[in-house]
Amino acid sequence: MGWDGESYQARFDRLAAAGEHVHGEADFVAGLEPASVLDAGCGTGRVAIELARRGIDVIGIDLDGSMIQTATRLAPDLEWIVGDLSAVRLDRRFDVVLMAGNVPLFTPPGTRSGLIDGCARHLAPGGALVAGFQIRRGFRLSTYDGYCTAVGLHLAERHATWDRQPFDDGADYAVSVHRWSAPTDLGKVVLRGGAQVSRDR
Ligand SMILES: C[S@@+](CC[C@H](N)C(=O)[O-])C[C@H]1O[C@@H](n2cnc3c(N)ncnc32)[C@H](O)[C@@H]1O
Repeated sequence: MGWDGESYQARFDRLAAAGEHVHGEADFVAGLEPASVLDAGCGTGRVAIELARRGIDVIGIDLDGSMIQTATRLAPDLEWIVGDLSAVRLDRRFDVVLMAGNVPLFTPPGTRSGLIDGCARHLAPGGALVAGFQIRRGFRLSTYDGYCTAVGLHLAERHATWDRQPFDDGADYAVSVHRWSAPTDLGKVVLRGGAQVSRDR
């Protein structure tokens, strides 16, 4: 789908102007104390810009040119990339790779597992993949966890909200933190075809 970056951003500007707290995602990520964050599916950069304001080294990437245009207007000094996480290979890794705001629900059809793989290959050793998305819109959490396991990540935390409300069966949103599995597992990743490859994590 194509986005209109300016109208997407305007919705959050209106909430902020009405006094709503719009930085729950940034609060959560900052609480993990990362030095660097890849905002994966950054949209207009609303989270990345807040993290940068808090002193975190951040890059934003999004498929959508209109979203990145708005992000560039709002924060011309930050690094913004138009690209598909399932395909791109940046020349660096990050303490946190963040997917805020339902990113896996909006990735092009057939690219969800590739999206998770793309996030994992940009994660530094000891890093965390953080994702928040609605779980009753056609993408099961068990499928998401399975994609994470397939690239060597395990579930470390799960909450129902960005302010860490407990996750239970009634939840319709999940904030998940996946981390690298035991160091002995890190040299090998089982690919979906069943073959094993060595990886430098
Ligand atoms: C609802 S927006 C969320 C934007 C932002 N993270 C936020 O919380 O405001 C979802 C974004 O994910 C992006 N996206 C989905 N799949 C992607 C992919 N494979 N690579 C890069 N961006 C992707 C879309 O282009 C869209 O801008």
